[in-house]
Amino acid sequence: MNALSPGCLIRSLTIAIPMLLMTGCGDDTGESVSASPVPADLTMTARPGRWYDSGRLQQGAAVFAGNCAGCHGQLAQGLTEDWKTRLPDGSFPPPPLNGSAHAWHHPRVQLLQVIDTGGIPYGGQMPAFQEVLNDDQKLAAIAFFQNFWDDETYAVWLDRGGLQ
Ligand code: HEC
Repeated sequence: MNALSPGCLIRSLTIAIPMLLMTGCGDDTGESVSASPVPADLTMTARPGRWYDSGRLQQGAAVFAGNCAGCHGQLAQGLTEDWKTRLPDGSFPPPPLNGSAHAWHHPRVQLLQVIDTGGIPYGGQMPAFQEVLNDDQKLAAIAFFQNFWDDETYAVWLDRGGLQ
């Protein structure tokens, strides 16, 4: 029955991510966006307290746009809400990586492995990036989609040994 990678397809939606909160409000004052804990542009500015800085994040934005966005969406939001439903060939659609699916169940080293190996050896559709991207670029891509994770999701990931 449950022959799929354990730990993955379970408990995926326990954390709701009000992801697009940070679009243009506050027209009244307009001037300083000041010390908001959520940076206004999550593709440019690293959230405070993360393992990556804004430079790496911006590198990741380029890597992600060039290699990943076609399947996982520009903002790592996925391309379909139905990513848990198998396709006719038995594989799954690309999941969102923005914290709303289960990428946050995996420590960084495992995320790197997924990117290296892809899903094809397991009957999936993700290509392998081992020979396509160097480790720096892969880490930057991870930083890019992790910056959409809110602080609560990130804290849970850290607690579960995310930085291994
Ligand atoms: C051709 C489409 C495609 C491309 C391009 C692609 N992916 Fe994927 N990705 C998938 C699919 C589909 C899955 C689900 C596993 C499978 O079926 O291979 C997946 C799974 C993942 C997972 C595991 C998510 C989880 O919740 O466990 C990560 C992480 C990931 N991709 C990151 C990336 C990154 C980073 C890139 C770019 C460097 C990328 N993917 C490029 C289709 C793609």
